[in-house]
Amino acid sequence: MKDKRPTWTSKYSFIITTIGSAVGLGNIWRFPYVMGQNGGAIFLAVYILIISTICFIPLINELYIGKLTKKECIGAYESINKNFKYLGALNPITGLLIASFYFIVGGWIINYIIKSFINYKIQNYEEYFTEFIKNPIYPCILTILFLFICIFFTARGLKKGIETANKSFMPLLAVILIFLVIVSLNLPNAHLGLEYMFKPDFTKLNSHMVLNALGQAFFTLSIGMGALLTYGSYIKEDKTLVKSVYTIILSDTIFAILAGIMIFPAVFSFNMEPNSGAGLVFVTLPKIFSQIQYGNIVSGAFFILLFCAAITSGISILEGPCASLIEKFNISRTKACFILFLFISIIAIPATLSFGILENIQFFHKSIFDFLDFLTSNIMLPVNTLFLCLISGWYLKIRGDILIKNKIGAFLFNIGLKYIVPISLILLIIIGLH
Ligand code: PHE
Repeated sequence: MKDKRPTWTSKYSFIITTIGSAVGLGNIWRFPYVMGQNGGAIFLAVYILIISTICFIPLINELYIGKLTKKECIGAYESINKNFKYLGALNPITGLLIASFYFIVGGWIINYIIKSFINYKIQNYEEYFTEFIKNPIYPCILTILFLFICIFFTARGLKKGIETANKSFMPLLAVILIFLVIVSLNLPNAHLGLEYMFKPDFTKLNSHMVLNALGQAFFTLSIGMGALLTYGSYIKEDKTLVKSVYTIILSDTIFAILAGIMIFPAVFSFNMEPNSGAGLVFVTLPKIFSQIQYGNIVSGAFFILLFCAAITSGISILEGPCASLIEKFNISRTKACFILFLFISIIAIPATLSFGILENIQFFHKSIFDFLDFLTSNIMLPVNTLFLCLISGWYLKIRGDILIKNKIGAFLFNIGLKYIVPISLILLIIIGLH
């Protein structure tokens, strides 16, 4: 192996980088619109319950398997049982496929940052967005640019690239988020947005919404594609992994709630619809920004915030496949990054074009972009997590008391790992297939 296996420079580096992986478009783009489509406050309550209980188990499990085996995904599974290596390989493959659509949204964000500062006024926001994503050239260039920025940090290695990026972008993200929350709370009728977020309407509680909350929680914590396993494999020593995991979950949840507090008061203040779906961030919000004082600065700040969130998650998506290439094929990090760059571009370009000239190419009645999103979020992420929980719970027979000191906690962990999480995941996959 050309590169010696790296380790985190400190526990802080590990935690902030893992939070960086978790806090991404999932929190700021996806969470508010999924919440908007699932009834607001009641969704938030269910989500908090799920993320602090059920999600704790697969999250710590993935980190722990990495820490235990000290290998990238394929090697980690292989060291448990030779035949498991194919299951392990599904993880970096999932990463590559997620990268191919996640980075497209990264490209859109770059466009909106530029747009905020230059030529700010737009006539019709819906039309602008649909025309922009249909363009055959510009979004492709921006997708590749976003990919290049992420690859740049990955290529510089764990300490100089990945840690440095997270230590710079995450504090910036927090500062901008707080600034935008203050702006939003000072808009007229901001309290309506807060009511929507925090006053639950129990009539909206249903099983589909619970599964949506579960899916959102897994996605936002980056569980199921080997990013966490790889990050876990760089841990030298952490006797308080449970505490670290709770810090990660708590931070991720705070970021998601703050994103909601930033978005909903603004949406209600301008009488817009909170359930407009994926367009909430690219259509509804720019419309709102155009109507407030210093709107271009607020808009620029918002899209820079999204950019920071997407970059740190993007880097984590790349690290799993990158580590697998380095350790399995015995090549340097630079070479691995070059291969990743080519490979992801080959899938991402047709996916970018699937909003325009390639819209007729369909898989299971879905465009390339939608299909990649569906395949990874609804199927591959939960399937990978299911396999890893089954391997840990039933094959390795990992017991809660290795990780958790208190007896009841350890007992609940055992039941969760063997039964509750696998059953929830199977339900999630079945519903996801519909
Ligand atoms: N957790 C990231 C987000 O919320 C997305 C992600 C998913 C990153 C899976 C890595 C792996 O945007």
